[in-house]
Amino acid sequence: MKITDTSDLWWKSAIVYCLDVETFMDSDGDGTGDMQGLAQRIDYLAQLGVTCLWLMPFYPTPDRDDGYDITDFYGVDPRLGNHGELVEVIRTANDRGMRVIVDLVVNHTSDRHPWFLKAKRSVNSPYRDYYVWRDDPPPRGQKNTVFPGEAKGIWTKDEASGQWYQHSFYEHQPDLNIANPAVRDELARVIGFWLQLGVAGFRVDAVPFFLEMPQGARIPDPHELLRDFRRFLQRRSSEAILLGEVNLPYDQQVQYFGGPEVNELSMQFDFIGMQAFYLSLARKDPAPLIEALTSRPVLPEDVQWANFLRNHDELTLDKLSDAEREEVFSAFAPDEGQRVYGRGITRRLPPMLGDPRRIRMAYSLLFTLPGTPVLFYGEEIGMGENAEIPGRLAVRTPMQWTGEKNGGFSSAPPSRLVARPPGDGYAPEHVNAADQIKDRESLLHFFRDLMSRYRISPELGWGAFQALEQPVPAILVHSLSADVGRLVAIHNFDEVPATTRFALPDEPGGTCLVDLLGSERIELDEKGGVEIEVPGYGYRWLRVARPGDGRVS
Ligand code: NOJ
Repeated sequence: MKITDTSDLWWKSAIVYCLDVETFMDSDGDGTGDMQGLAQRIDYLAQLGVTCLWLMPFYPTPDRDDGYDITDFYGVDPRLGNHGELVEVIRTANDRGMRVIVDLVVNHTSDRHPWFLKAKRSVNSPYRDYYVWRDDPPPRGQKNTVFPGEAKGIWTKDEASGQWYQHSFYEHQPDLNIANPAVRDELARVIGFWLQLGVAGFRVDAVPFFLEMPQGARIPDPHELLRDFRRFLQRRSSEAILLGEVNLPYDQQVQYFGGPEVNELSMQFDFIGMQAFYLSLARKDPAPLIEALTSRPVLPEDVQWANFLRNHDELTLDKLSDAEREEVFSAFAPDEGQRVYGRGITRRLPPMLGDPRRIRMAYSLLFTLPGTPVLFYGEEIGMGENAEIPGRLAVRTPMQWTGEKNGGFSSAPPSRLVARPPGDGYAPEHVNAADQIKDRESLLHFFRDLMSRYRISPELGWGAFQALEQPVPAILVHSLSADVGRLVAIHNFDEVPATTRFALPDEPGGTCLVDLLGSERIELDEKGGVEIEVPGYGYRWLRVARPGDGRVS
């Protein structure tokens, strides 16, 4: 199948941008971001080159897990706006060529959700079976909580009935009982509702937890339930996607695409590749990343990996060995206070990497990894975390629009802000979008260039990865080949400049490498070989231009 015939697989070459409405832009000066503020900033995202917005949970919530604790799956948190304003966001984004996907958090509800309140009120309530209960105390050595230090175990006693309810996350987030057909019907309606309002799919929270069946459930294959949701989704909207959070080893993770029929998740975050990326950065050696990428299961054409360097949670290193994790910790989070849950880092990328050349190299590499890049708001301007905010929330500070009060996010008194921006060298007066828009040399412009190059290079999203042989241990030279063409990327993980040599022996005579981020045109020698000098933390994107190649750049 030709790429040109499959442009409806839009997510294969999308650029996804994750943001929380609450921290993006406050239009009414109450200290909390809102839908109207976001609508005003859609053009900023469009000029940057974003093609898909991922909105973190904006539903009514007691906000004990930053909105991942929901009391109404059909609602909009009144602090953020209403359905009408959300529809304006979606419509404006669509008009500027961006799709909108939203978080689907259906593993659990808030304990203040009316379903759970009714379930607790009476063991005979039809809602009782919406949740997962046990009669006996949980056995010793029970499965551990996802949030060690913040939650105790995964079962909590309901004093009124004496039964215990399950919660994979915090105790205020009771797990829904997916084995109950009434729950599944409700969730399908939720999916249908948001599709009808115009979203192009969902980022599905905690998928493996969601599919875990309560003991004794008579569901032979829980994946069948995910297939049901996918079938329903696609009946309602052929373009809609499910982008799943599945942090598992590749051999288990790949099952969530649904086997050869690929009828479960459309995209999955690559947590393994992300963790190997940081190990490679720490070691100044691309080998761990190469190993991860080459052990990725090869996917059928209509599904995709989603690559990211930072998300809204802790930077988890849970899939590294203890020794590897220590290496990354000591390189990038030397203080205990920069770590959480014994497995993750609470910092953003720029303060960890420091050297601006290294930061650009890392993002250049992100955009050349096979798959779809996903950015967390503020990455494009190099925002840092607020080290005074403990845990995962350190990176969820307001978007820094200007160097003025509150970083231009809100006109409220600082004490009323939903979160405070950092006060250190990453404070808004040093890092903000307005200054960078005016400065052609800024990180923001660098991102714009990468994004526009990514968008006209579909081989990046579609191509097959190959690490090319070359002599310098700190350098990665890889190519991505698709029927539309081939691209070679070079990245130096070390600050020491070096000269690399590699060959493309299969390419026809007369083939050139066209520099996509500069203006050079490099001829391959008669054996297809080439020698290239790479600055410290340097990077190159080189299009393989065969004789007669009609592409303009
Ligand atoms: C994963 C989300 O990314 C995280 O932020 C949240 O706390 C848990 N799921 C529970 O919903």
